[in-house]
Amino acid sequence: MGLNYYQIKKNVLQARKLVIKGTNAAGSGHPGGSFSMAEILGCLFYKHLKFDPNNPQWDDRDRLVLSKGHAAPGLFSNMAVAGYFPESELETLRKLGSKLQGHPDLKCPGVEFCGGSLGTGLSYSIGIALAGKLDSKDYHVYTIIGDGESNEGQVWEAAMTASKYKVDNLTVFLDRNFIQQDSYTERVMPLDEKLGEGDNLSEMWKDASRWKTGDKWRSFGWNVIEVDGHRVEQVDAAVKKANATKGVPTIVISRTIKGKSVEHMEDNPQWHGKAPDPDVVPIINQELDSQFMIAPSIIAGDMTNLENEVKRCAAGRADYIHLDVMDGQFVPNKTFDHAKIKELKPLTVIPFDTHLMINDPVKHVQNYVDAGSDVVTVHAEVTDESSFGEIHDLLKQNQVGVGLAINPDTEFPKWAYKFISLLDQIIVMSVVPGKSGQKYIEATHEKMARLNPILHEHNFSGYVEADGGVNLENIGSIFADGARAFVGGGAIIGQQDVRTAIKDFRYEALKSRRKQLLGKANQLGGSELVNKWIGLHVVGEKQDQIRRIAQEAGFV
Ligand code: DX5
Ligand code: ZN
Repeated sequence: MGLNYYQIKKNVLQARKLVIKGTNAAGSGHPGGSFSMAEILGCLFYKHLKFDPNNPQWDDRDRLVLSKGHAAPGLFSNMAVAGYFPESELETLRKLGSKLQGHPDLKCPGVEFCGGSLGTGLSYSIGIALAGKLDSKDYHVYTIIGDGESNEGQVWEAAMTASKYKVDNLTVFLDRNFIQQDSYTERVMPLDEKLGEGDNLSEMWKDASRWKTGDKWRSFGWNVIEVDGHRVEQVDAAVKKANATKGVPTIVISRTIKGKSVEHMEDNPQWHGKAPDPDVVPIINQELDSQFMIAPSIIAGDMTNLENEVKRCAAGRADYIHLDVMDGQFVPNKTFDHAKIKELKPLTVIPFDTHLMINDPVKHVQNYVDAGSDVVTVHAEVTDESSFGEIHDLLKQNQVGVGLAINPDTEFPKWAYKFISLLDQIIVMSVVPGKSGQKYIEATHEKMARLNPILHEHNFSGYVEADGGVNLENIGSIFADGARAFVGGGAIIGQQDVRTAIKDFRYEALKSRRKQLLGKANQLGGSELVNKWIGLHVVGEKQDQIRRIAQEAGFV
C-alpha cells in the first residue's frame, strides 16, 4: 500500500484494537504473540506486501506465511484493516462457522497457510519460494516464525535447505519475544546463552550482548539482520535490505515484547493464550490510544556538529529526531536547511520530524521531501487553505507525514478544520518559536483544552506534538492535556546523557498515562475495578508503582 510512517502506526494501532475486540468476543485466543509481531505485520501489509484484497488469489501476489499460527488474531486484524473483510468480522473469531478460526485456515481467502502445527511454515515457504522461481514469478515470500516454535527440529532442517537452494526470494522474521506457551524460551529451550540461576528472565531481552540466535542462523548460511521489532523504521529498513540481498535467504531477528503496548500483558507469559475480560477492555483501548513518542530537538546541541547530535539521539533511542528549520524571516534566527537534512539522513533510520519555521513553505516543501523527511510540519501563520492543500497532497504522494503547527498566540485556524482528519501531526508551540531553552508558556494547557474538542469532532487520529520548554517537571501534565509526542531540546539534547534523559521523559509520561488509566478504571467500576486493574500488573515493579499512583489519587 505504500503508506507513510504515521499511517502504518495508525493501522498497527487499529489492528491491535481488533485483536482485543476479537479475543474478548471469543473469550480466548492469543493476544501476546499477536502484539509482539504487530509492527512486523504492519510494516509488511501497509508498505511492502504486494496483494489485492479483492483478488486474494492473484498469481503475482507476495506470500505472507504465518508459521506461528496461534497469533492468528494478529493476522486477521491486519487483513481486516487491509480490506480483505469488514473489521466487524473479528467479532466472530473462533466461533463455529466463522472463517476466522483460532489458527489461520485456507477457508479464509487471503490466508496462505494453515498455521498452528508449529515448525512447518518455513518448509512450506521454501516450497512456494522455489515454485515462484521455477515459474519465473517475481513474488516474494515473507514468513513469521516464533522463538518457541524454534524448538522444532524441522525449522533447522528448513534452514539448511533454504541455504542450499539459495532461496533469496524468502525473508523470514523471527518474532523473538523470549516467551513461549508455558514460560520463558530460555528456560524451556535456550536459543541464546544458557542462563544462570540468578538471571532475571523477564529482563533477558534487554541485554543485546547475550543474543546468540543470529549466530545460529549465520552458521546455517543465512543473511542475518537484527532489529528492534517494534520500530517500524527498523523493520522497514530490514525489508529493504533483505530484498536487495541476492543468493542467500534472509532472516530478520526481531527483538520484540510479548503483549507489547498493553503494560500488564508485556513480558508476561500468562498472556500467551488468554483473552482480556470485558470490564478491562475499555481501559486497554484507552491505553492503546495513549502511546507516545519522544523527539529530541538537535538545535539544542552543538550546531557545528549536528552529525554527532543525530548519533546521540540514535544511541539514546529517540522515537524520532526533531529538526528545527529556521530561515531568519519567519523567526529571527537561522539554523539549517534541506541540504543539511539530506546530509544527516543516512546516519540513522529513525524518522526525521522536520519542523519548518520558514516563510512560504509551499515553495520549499519539495526540497524537504527530497532531503528525506518522514514528516514535514509547516506553520499555519504562513499557509492558507489552498497552499496547505498543495503541501498536503505533495507530502502524501511522497509517503511523507503531514503536520501543521500553531504559534502560542495562534488559535487553530478554521480553514484547517477540513484537514484535521488527514493530519499526521499537529504541533502546538509552547514557546515563541525561534530558539531552544525557553520557558514553557503555561497558557498552553488551556489552549489544549480548547483544541481537544475540535480535534475530536473532526476525527483527528494523528499525534499532537508539544514543542518548547518541555521538561521532566511538566511532561506529565502536558501528556494529560493530550499531547502524545514530546520535543525535548534543552531537557534532552542539552543534557550530557541523552539516553537517560529520554528514559526519564518516558517514565514521566508513563506515570501520567497510568494515572489516567486508573482514573478510567475508577470511573467505570470504582475501587473494585481499580484494584483489579492494579492486580493485572504482575511483572517487575509495575504493580507497586501503579498502586502508589492510585493511592495518591485517592482511588483506593
Ligand atoms: C523552538 C523549536 C523547538 C525548541 C525546543 O523554536 O521549535 O523545537 O528547539 O527546545 P526546548 O525544548 O529547549 O524548548
Ligand atoms: Zn520545533
